Formats: sequence, C-alpha cells, structure tokens
Amino acid sequence: MGFVIAVDGPAASGKGTIAVKLGALYGFPVLDTGLLYRAVGVKVLESGGDLGDEAAAVAAAKALDPQELERPEVRTRAAGEAASRVAIYTPVRQVLRDFQLAFAAQEPGAVLDGRDIGTVIAPRAPAKLYVTASPEVRAERRWKQLTGQGETVAYEDILADIRIRDERDGARAESPMRPADDAVLLDTTEMSIDAAFDAARRIVEAARSRW
Ligand code: DC
Repeated sequence: MGFVIAVDGPAASGKGTIAVKLGALYGFPVLDTGLLYRAVGVKVLESGGDLGDEAAAVAAAKALDPQELERPEVRTRAAGEAASRVAIYTPVRQVLRDFQLAFAAQEPGAVLDGRDIGTVIAPRAPAKLYVTASPEVRAERRWKQLTGQGETVAYEDILADIRIRDERDGARAESPMRPADDAVLLDTTEMSIDAAFDAARRIVEAARSRW
C-alpha cells in the first residue's frame, strides 16, 4: 500500500475540499467515496425503485459504472439523501468496497474521503483526518453550494437534512461514521478553506515524516 490519506467526516464539513487539495499537493488521485453511494441512490430512483428496497440498491451497486460518478445528478440534495439511505445496506457497502480498495492500493499514494475510510476501508492508512464543523456552519456551506449550482432550497431545510444524515450515518450498524482511534480531529467551524487546508497539510506532513 502507498501513502493513503483517509479524510472522514460528516456532510459538508470541508473534507471534500481538503481531500482535493491534498491530492493536488502530493500528486495523488482522489476518490470522493460519497459519490459512489450517491450514484447508487440516483440509479435506484431513476429506475423507479424504492430506497427502502435493499435488493434494488444492491443491483444498482453491482451495475455501477464509474462514469456515473461524473454526472451532475449525483451532486443534488436528493442524491445526498438517497446516498445516506442506500449506505445502510451491508451488501451495498461490500460491493462498493472492492472499488475503494483497488483505488487505495495505487502507488505512490491515494486520498479517499468518506465516512469509514480510516475505520473500515483503509484501517492501516498512515494519515487519517476526521474533519468536523458545527451543523449550522455545515448547513450554510451546503446551502451556498446547492444554490450556486442552481437548486432552490431553504437554509432551514438543509440544516434539517444535515441533522437527519448525521444521525442516520452515525447510528447505522454497518460501518457507522466515526473517527478512527488514530485519526486526528480537525474542527473547521471557525476556519477559512485556506486555514483548514493548512491545518490538514501539517497533520499529513507529520504523518509522512513518521511513515
Ligand atoms: O460525503 P457525501 O455527503 O457525498 O455522502 C453521501 C452519503 O453517502 C452519506 O450521507 C453517507 C454515505 N457515505 C457512506 O456511508 N460512506 C462513505 N464512505 C461515504 C458516504
């Protein structure tokens, strides 16, 4: 295994931006693993299926084409909610796991962001970050992102979504969202993007010097 950087945390914590910037800094490929679950959720919805139907979600995960991660539909509010719902199914996670393991095995390193990278997908990753921020700040960031891409949505509704998702992602039996014991916590509530990235870079540099 190369130098894997695991970046976990709740929705809109800033983990995606940090992951992309770390990838650019080190020249490593970056996988936003949330997109896998989003693409599965969108596939179920588009085929007229029900997110409560585990078999439909498993079939969608098996039929997933990596190109589908590039579709604008996976970035919507509805896709985020659908992702969190299909993510509770153990067989869905197993199917998506192989793709993530292959990605993480790339040399000389890779960055993966998600909920269970440091705990389940890459427990031996030499660098683990757990990025958080208050629900209110995360809702504001997500609201700006969604309205910026043309969605009409109220801040209060996004805040409610975030609270529901935190609860569902953290309480599920299979691979719940939680910091690995050896993850470094990074609270970005009061930080600009630049400050958050700088803090993340220092954490990763320290891990690199120990590696
Ligand atoms: O990071 P995101 O908001 O795009 O993730 C969408 C949902 O996908 C999230 O609410 C839970 C699920 N997910 C997961 O269960 N495990 C991951 N590694 C990434 C995302």
